Amino acid sequence: MMEDGRDFPEEFLWGAATAAHQVEGSNVNSDWWAFEHDPHTASVESSGDGIDHYARFADDFALLASLGHTAHRLSIEWARIEPAPGEFSAAQLAHYRRVLTAVRDNGMTAFVTLHHFTLPRWFADRGGWTAPDAIDRFEQYVRHVCVGLGDLLEHVCTINEPQMVALHGYLEGYHPPGVTNPTLWKRVGRTLLAAHRAAVRIVHETTGATTGLVVQLPLLAPAREDDVTGQFCAQMQAEIVDLYIDGLAADPVDAGDWLGVQYYRKNWVDPASPTIFAPPPPGVPTTQMGWAIHPDGLRVMLHRAADARLPIYVTENGIATEDDLERISYLDGHLRAVAAARAEGVDVRGYLHWSAFDNFEWSEGYRPKFGLIAVDRHHDYARTPKPSAHALARVARTGRIDA
Ligand code: NOJ
Repeated sequence: MMEDGRDFPEEFLWGAATAAHQVEGSNVNSDWWAFEHDPHTASVESSGDGIDHYARFADDFALLASLGHTAHRLSIEWARIEPAPGEFSAAQLAHYRRVLTAVRDNGMTAFVTLHHFTLPRWFADRGGWTAPDAIDRFEQYVRHVCVGLGDLLEHVCTINEPQMVALHGYLEGYHPPGVTNPTLWKRVGRTLLAAHRAAVRIVHETTGATTGLVVQLPLLAPAREDDVTGQFCAQMQAEIVDLYIDGLAADPVDAGDWLGVQYYRKNWVDPASPTIFAPPPPGVPTTQMGWAIHPDGLRVMLHRAADARLPIYVTENGIATEDDLERISYLDGHLRAVAAARAEGVDVRGYLHWSAFDNFEWSEGYRPKFGLIAVDRHHDYARTPKPSAHALARVARTGRIDA
């Protein structure tokens, strides 16, 4: 606790995060839309209309601001901005101009992600992140967005969870392109880190915004004590955590201005598991996703993230559950972990909960409920803040966890 009795300083940013494809609806030019409509993939349903955020963003931002949010994270959809190679949509750029203006008019600081899992279908068809000109193509898109929207950009998240793009898309195969190839898995992780650096250079060259990579940092542990499992866990640690944290620290020139940390769970790594991770041991509390709840892991991973020697924002943290009391307790535990890390000297400057609304959870569809706000997708898309939204609002307004 700080001297004035607060757990967080006045300037600490509070809010929630979303990603375009998970809330907007009808993102028909993306690789994900194709994946969802292919019966041979892991996807359980189509994203369809999303939660109609594409049309309702202004009301949504007003609602979030009324719940004490001072920041909001959203993503720009590359497939809308550049529906065909080199062909940029002025109308879609204008849409995101209205979106960012609405965030600002509601008094919130925007965190804008340039790439959050989805790709234009044409980019994916040409080999996605494995194509020789992938970074050049990404740079052209980034430049277009920065030049077109630069005056409204405050904080830019370059690439969302590069490790998960590589892992889910190229090793586990349950995200597009659905590949299971260890060589490509490692290559794509490195390509994405290089793409991040390229984006940082463009953001700095063309805008006054600050920018950073956002990484998911799970707490990893071996599922068993034997050597094979230990070595496998070390390899996962190297690819999922060290590559990015130590990689950014090794060459700070275009590493970015801060680091986004996303934390959900503790993972037990198991070489015998088709998904790399073993189910949590019996007795460990889990979420609707089957993920182990372990709040102190956030404190531990914030310390590890500090090795990148950059200020930190928690750009995602949340729980899938139908039981909102469980969400309140998850929130409480994880906010205590953030406060503890800060008290121990880690420079954490904001907390963005995943997610603002119940939304489309990728291959798992709409079943997992991550939102602070419920959405009636079957009738009128009405938004209803849950008690957890009010719990976060109290902390945001007072800076005190026990308010
Ligand atoms: C990380 C991803 O960035 C986000 O898109 C996803 O919905 C959440 N984790 C929950 O899985």
